[in-house]
Amino acid sequence: MAKAARIVATGSYLPERILTNKDLEQMVDTSDEWIFSRTGMKERRIASSNEFTSDMGCKAAQMALERSGISAQDLDLILVATITPDYVFPSTAALIQSTLKAPQAAAFDFQAACTGYVYGLAIAKGFIEGGVYKNILLIASEKLSSIIDYKDRNTCVLFGDGASAAVIRDSGPGLLIKQTSLGADGGVANLLMLPGGGCRQPATLESVEKGLHYLSMEGKEVFKHAVRRMQSAAIHCLDLAGLAQSDIDWLIPHQANERIIDAIAKRFEIDEAKVFKTVHKYGNTSASGVAIALDELLDEKDIGKGDNLLLVAFGAGFTWGAAILTRAEI
Ligand code: ACO
Repeated sequence: MAKAARIVATGSYLPERILTNKDLEQMVDTSDEWIFSRTGMKERRIASSNEFTSDMGCKAAQMALERSGISAQDLDLILVATITPDYVFPSTAALIQSTLKAPQAAAFDFQAACTGYVYGLAIAKGFIEGGVYKNILLIASEKLSSIIDYKDRNTCVLFGDGASAAVIRDSGPGLLIKQTSLGADGGVANLLMLPGGGCRQPATLESVEKGLHYLSMEGKEVFKHAVRRMQSAAIHCLDLAGLAQSDIDWLIPHQANERIIDAIAKRFEIDEAKVFKTVHKYGNTSASGVAIALDELLDEKDIGKGDNLLLVAFGAGFTWGAAILTRAEI
């Protein structure tokens, strides 16, 4: 019988340091009122100067592994979604493979910005259901504070650091990855990007002076695309799964802005109480956003047998995607 991929355990790590809106008032010309009313954010976490994407990813992974009942030695593959790797190369996944002591595991990074975790669920599902691997560790980890200009009020209030991980297996109780749907449009890549640091613009004194190594974003445009693409990704995913909007028990959207989340929830006519949010306390943590929210949802709520969770995300590229998770039979 074909194996069905399922998340058997999750875990997250958030750095200790909290950066509040009040703190940001001391750094740029902004206000708690502006940030909260435009984004729903009150605070976000910031990694310490000697804490990196691999460190946060490892901590989240260790929690997920402990909860899963399998050890790092059992892992066949480690996948890391990040736009803030420790290095351009080697991969953050390889660094984590070494720290976790997972000698049997292949390891690679991939990048779909804020849609990274949803892309990762699709990759893991393909490997498991294709019979290639049995035990996969999917990690989303971001140190966005390393690419943010804390003098630019347009961006510095929005982002935070954090990591989350999932152990995905071919058997056992958990959340079936029932369906995924992915998309991309590189034609508007310029609306959200990190212009410097790649081969088009390697680091030079001039590139650093121009601030090309900081995230750059056309916020208003990104907002419009995000709402439209997340809605269509979610509808496509539901169609593929043969489900109706009314079958959704929990909606976990990308945690970029509460107004974007509310716009999507409104289009789905889903009860506000069924929309899970962490944006007020963590801000936008890119790839790890939906993953941290999923982990907290599983900690805080009872997910009944057959309940459907809809994850939907949007990010630079542009990329977008949705995934439907369903509580598996044991
Ligand atoms: N404090 C005070 N004023 C500010 C701030 C701030 N932090 N930031 C911008 N402003 C000002 C602007 O300068 C502008 O002033 P002006 O009219 O004098 O020029 C004014 O506020 C209004 O700016 P808008 O851009 O119109 O504000 P908007 O209501 O669109 O909100 C925001 C901006 C929050 C960025 C919103 O557009 C947004 O959330 N966009 C989507 C961002 C997003 O999701 N990004 C991540 C995608 S995922 C990924 O892959 C990383």
